[in-house]
Amino acid sequence: MFNKETYIRRRDKLRKMMGKGIVLLPGNVDSPMNYKSNIYRFRQDSNFLYFFGLDQQGLAGVIDAESGEDILFGDDFTLDDIVWMGPQPTLKERSAKAGVGKTAAFARLEEFLKKARQDGRKIHFLPPYRAENKLQLESLLEIRPDVQAEEASEELIRAVVAIRSVKEAQEVAEIEKAADVTQLMHTTAMKMARPGVYEREIAGVVEGIALSHGGMLAYPLILSVHGETLHNHSHDNKLEEGHLLLMDGGAETPMHYAADYTRTTPVGGRFNEKQRMIYEIVLQAETRAINAIKPGVTNKGLHLLAANVIASGLKDLGLIKGDPEQAVEQGAYALFMPHGLGHMIGLDVHDMEDLGEDFVGYDEEVKRSKMFGLGALRLGRKLQENFVITVEPGIYFIPELIRQWEEEKKFTEFINYAEVKSYVGTGGIRIEDDVLVTGDGYRVLGKPIPKAPDDIERLMNE
Ligand code: GLY
Ligand code: MN
Repeated sequence: MFNKETYIRRRDKLRKMMGKGIVLLPGNVDSPMNYKSNIYRFRQDSNFLYFFGLDQQGLAGVIDAESGEDILFGDDFTLDDIVWMGPQPTLKERSAKAGVGKTAAFARLEEFLKKARQDGRKIHFLPPYRAENKLQLESLLEIRPDVQAEEASEELIRAVVAIRSVKEAQEVAEIEKAADVTQLMHTTAMKMARPGVYEREIAGVVEGIALSHGGMLAYPLILSVHGETLHNHSHDNKLEEGHLLLMDGGAETPMHYAADYTRTTPVGGRFNEKQRMIYEIVLQAETRAINAIKPGVTNKGLHLLAANVIASGLKDLGLIKGDPEQAVEQGAYALFMPHGLGHMIGLDVHDMEDLGEDFVGYDEEVKRSKMFGLGALRLGRKLQENFVITVEPGIYFIPELIRQWEEEKKFTEFINYAEVKSYVGTGGIRIEDDVLVTGDGYRVLGKPIPKAPDDIERLMNE
């Protein structure tokens, strides 16, 4: 974890923004896979990590906005726990690392919150996303799980989003560590992308790289020759000459900061002509969007910039006809890119998505579009210095979507369906990097991962 001053400073900032009431931040507990003691790998809640830093089960943090007091609720290990799981620092020792002076047994939390409510104090909590925490919150606050999201404190959500959106230098350094492990994951996958190899063989090695660096994957690996399925988590296909292998994968550091990079690789080491032409358009879109990053520009604007590059590139190839700017304005381009340009990244790969996408990505000035494609953009609002974002345009040939739009005669003034259908089978191409917004521009984080076609081919044929 970071030093204790970090957590004290963050909690004080939150306290000041809240002004009144009590902030309750429960940590996560273990979740069973198939019976109680056979558990998924533990992942701490990111908000708890941000304000209390402790990466163990069974803790809850309380920040009193008025008294200035912080309390850590939890329990020391019993002798039985020690026999099975080994010795652990005491609750007092752990709370000292987070700069929290006061601790109490977990069982005391219920009575503490009851008394606070009797005293007419508001308990602010965030929308819970795990069943275990929903049940716990129900017994602590007597709020049914199905209404907890709407009862969550908007004031707290807005304060946490404002604080966590702007990354500290030490957080950027952590994201960059995750990016460096991710670079090794991607370059290894590129070298393994040979005909006859199964996707799962590469997926296993890639996940092993993340694990061997002490963390885990930041999200389930997307690695498929069917890159046209945006979040394809199956790894059962055999790679063949002529396939494109799309890998969207990122490591998480032991402190749980994420990276999220995508590369698309020609199986066997050479792009064919059609693949290269489409790839170059995506690369142009990514490069142009990254080059335009600076404080004050909206991410919605960057999305539309990338969409325009894609539309005019596809017009040059004869897949789009008419005015490409109109094809973007009216949403026809989304046949090829039905997702958003990117999102914030930090302790979560989609940073703070548990708090609500619109609180994180939109504001009074920039509202979420209802259009297909643009409506999937997670981050639309103005960028600020020290935001860390992903930039991830793509072009996909999704047979079912193409078929449906053609049957509906949708956008026939912009889409040359006969030509588009000749590209079905090309799959999907996405290129993604993680980028820090600096005072006057941007910095792409991590060791470079080859992305120009010649550089990818060179690495694959080394
Ligand atoms: N890495 C997957 C996504 O950004 O949705
Ligand atoms: Mn992403």
